[in-house]
Amino acid sequence: MTAGPDRAARHAPPVARERLPALLAVMPKAELHVHIEGTLEPEMIFMLAERNGVALPYANLDGLRGAYAFTSLQSFLDLYYQGAGVLRTEQDFHDLAWAYLQRAAADHVVRAEIFFDPQTHTARGISMATVINGLKRACTEARTRLGISAALILSFLRHLSEREAFETLEQALPFRDDFIGVGLDSSEVGNPPEKFARVFARCGKLGLHRVAHAGEEGPAAYIRDALDLLHAERIDHGVQAATDPQLMARLAAERIPLTVCPLSNVKLCVFPDLSRHSLPRLLAAGLCATINSDDPAYFGGYLNDNFQATFDALALTAQDAWQLAANSFEASFASAAEKQSWTDRLSACFEAARTS
Ligand code: ADE
Ligand code: ZN
Repeated sequence: MTAGPDRAARHAPPVARERLPALLAVMPKAELHVHIEGTLEPEMIFMLAERNGVALPYANLDGLRGAYAFTSLQSFLDLYYQGAGVLRTEQDFHDLAWAYLQRAAADHVVRAEIFFDPQTHTARGISMATVINGLKRACTEARTRLGISAALILSFLRHLSEREAFETLEQALPFRDDFIGVGLDSSEVGNPPEKFARVFARCGKLGLHRVAHAGEEGPAAYIRDALDLLHAERIDHGVQAATDPQLMARLAAERIPLTVCPLSNVKLCVFPDLSRHSLPRLLAAGLCATINSDDPAYFGGYLNDNFQATFDALALTAQDAWQLAANSFEASFASAAEKQSWTDRLSACFEAARTS
């Protein structure tokens, strides 16, 4: 349906439409926008609550699941922060990340860049070491046991102050080599990028990659500010760019990736339904858009669920599938050699689907 850039047209072999669902499932892909706290499934919330002696305000799983009816980003965040309260020990953080990574492997994810929100935990007296050591151990195991290249991105909570972000960065510096970059998440509207310009400048000097949620609920202007004031290398969500043709042209020209999360956008009422999503317009404009799951335990699906539902609703094509997976490798912070090897695997996968 959408016309991707020439580069993709040269690489994607034609694949019959009936082969598309299977191809979406097995093609190698990178997930670049997933919050580890958003992978906390209701079953694990109850298991960890029992393990750690935490009282929950829900009698059972159905009671908890019944609360997952969101009307806005904030209505979700309130529950998401409450759910994270069951995470207490290094083993908890490990088990959470390990469960996600196993699930990602089943979706043929070969690279995962995973957000974590340390302030959600340090505010409850959990140490930075507890959080990072647990998550990092799972990421290291993922390489040897699952063949996934996994990396962590520390995300600042934008509803908190600049001072608290600086303090969080200081606490994380002893673990500098355990995360590859910083992000900015939580309540967007009213907490513009400029609030964190100085923190991000310091992160840049430390050689950290910089990404930011922008243009999820907030206006397209926040995307521009994330680029100009935070020097973000990637925009998380960014779906409001479609309202601003000049910004779209800039994002395309500078190949700034957008980590789009379709099921999240519908659950949080950014779009009324998937068929109204801006993704086809972003792809048609030649942007480096990718598909991601955001908070899969809360939004009804992991990465392949996002691909499947989006392709069904928007009648996307095999060409789009190739483009989205190739974009995910291009947009990742992995080495050039890793990116090339995954892109080669992607081409081989399409070739096999064409000839089988
Ligand atoms: N934290 C977890 N999920 C988020 C989202 N979709 N937007 C902003 N902050 C988040
Ligand atoms: Zn997010």
